[in-house]
Amino acid sequence: MYDVLIIGSGAAGLSLALNLPDSLKIAILSKEELTEGSTFYAQGGISAVLDKSDSFESHIADTLDSGAGLCDEDVVRHVVENGPQAIHWLLQSGVPFTRENNDIEGLDGLHLTREGGHSNRRVAHAADASGKAIETTLVSLVKEKPNIELFEHHIAIDLITSRQLAIKKQQKQKNRCYGAYVLDNSSKKKHRIKTFAARFTVLASGGASKVYLYTSNPDGASGDGIAMSWRAGCRIANMEFMQFHPTCLYHPHAKSNLITEAVRGEGGKLLLPDGTRFMPKYDPRAELAPRDIVARTIDHEMKRLGIDSVFLDISHKPKAFIVQHFPNVYAMCKKFGYDMSKEPVPVVPAAHYTCGGVMVDESGHSDIDGLYAIGETTFTGLHGANRMASNSLLECVVYGQAAAKDISQRATNKKTGISEEQIPDWDESRVTDSDERVVINHNWDEIRRFMWDYVGIVRTTKRLQRARNRIDLLLNEIDEYYSNFRVTHDLIELRNLAEVASLIIRSAQRRHESRGLHYTLDYPQTDPKLDHVNTIMDPIKRR
Ligand code: FAD
Ligand code: SIN
Repeated sequence: MYDVLIIGSGAAGLSLALNLPDSLKIAILSKEELTEGSTFYAQGGISAVLDKSDSFESHIADTLDSGAGLCDEDVVRHVVENGPQAIHWLLQSGVPFTRENNDIEGLDGLHLTREGGHSNRRVAHAADASGKAIETTLVSLVKEKPNIELFEHHIAIDLITSRQLAIKKQQKQKNRCYGAYVLDNSSKKKHRIKTFAARFTVLASGGASKVYLYTSNPDGASGDGIAMSWRAGCRIANMEFMQFHPTCLYHPHAKSNLITEAVRGEGGKLLLPDGTRFMPKYDPRAELAPRDIVARTIDHEMKRLGIDSVFLDISHKPKAFIVQHFPNVYAMCKKFGYDMSKEPVPVVPAAHYTCGGVMVDESGHSDIDGLYAIGETTFTGLHGANRMASNSLLECVVYGQAAAKDISQRATNKKTGISEEQIPDWDESRVTDSDERVVINHNWDEIRRFMWDYVGIVRTTKRLQRARNRIDLLLNEIDEYYSNFRVTHDLIELRNLAEVASLIIRSAQRRHESRGLHYTLDYPQTDPKLDHVNTIMDPIKRR
């Protein structure tokens, strides 16, 4: 039995692991290589109040403004006020942040960039590969810890809970989590399903943007943590608020290629094909308006003019500046035939971030005893109806630390209420190997396409109903397939993707207004009566 099972090895899971005491026996699962996840691909950086001319009040006000009336102000304050120490911890851990001045040590010498919604420079970064710097640094540290075991290519299937095990003694008590069933894909040998029993289980499994056809996210962003916790009995909130990043490179062969908002922060302009700048017409903050506004405006212009993309232009800046600040984005664009220092680059919006998720308290604790959730998989109340740029990595670190503190305190009580032997092995007696894998690929593609077409940047009541009809059919089909065939990595993800798509659609259907990232032509106005009203899906009511 592990003390702590952490499902996910991104910024959230690793921050948690590194802040837990060495006396605890910890397992970290990653469904692919350890570094694979959104964290590794993060570009712009991590926000915190570090500049003398900046203030907590300003960071709080900007976050609340981006969140369009749905942020929890106490949570925003908690995260913002913990920002400087979170960056300090990363710096102490060895993250090579870009420095303005190499002669000044610590937080004061960091170069800070700007992104949409921020009224000050407050984004610490490692050039334009901030996530890679954070992920690789933290991975190297967990590898040195003898109390931490790392399991790559291990994909969690479902959580183990007292309710599901129907443990009599526990039934009158709160539902408790005892770990997870996990498919081990690490060797070429026939796969194995293992039981990972744990006193505390933490979902740090990232977001769900893969539910859309076009996304900036890596393939694994299938919302596994959200779906697993929903099935286990947790409430899920605000799933209608899926964020679309305004600027992904538009090219037939460019998959998931984000162009960081910091390009606009450093002066990049958005242009129509004829070279006209359009953002100032829609928002006084122009290219640095919050992301929902910029993405929706681009979508509007593309539909109005029937064009395939708009353009991002920073060619007025010296080449040396561009290459120094954005070496990876510059090289990526060059690879696809665009020289950012000489010409505008075609860009389109793509699904980027899941603002809703597993409901947790300020320590990351969920509705199920012993089950925590941290990072993008959660709904903490920080992001409201639209996450402000670079607040996500900050949330990962702050909640990783908060959950570590809570677990450390609770871990002193050694009782779990169950022994490992009481947990039955995974039952494969009634399933066979699938002879129709095509069903998985087909359903996967179908979901992602109708989510893009019907539940995207601009929604209508009719489109949502069309999506609902399809997802209800697919959920039944996938359930049936799942109960007949042996699980595979793809089937596990598809089942989760479908569950998450259903949660997004049903949440969107409930919100009869437009706010932040949820925009519907049938209710185009924001309803002030819905300020601070979250969309909470309760598993007791299920479908
Ligand atoms: P992730 O980093 O996504 O990690 C998820 C982990 O969970 C992985 O290890 C995965 O293998 C594991 N996992 C998932 N499901 C299972 C399962 N069933 N079983 C076992 N393991 C599982 N945010 C910012 O604040 N600043 C930025 O500059 C920024 N840039 C971004 C750029 C891109 C291209 C993208 C995609 C996102 C960006 N974001 C940025 C968002 C931010 O990177 C993510 O929200 C954040 O990294 C999420 O971290 P996480 O630890 O929650 O999850
Ligand atoms: C970016 O660099 O544009 C992404 C920042 C974020 O998603 O917070």
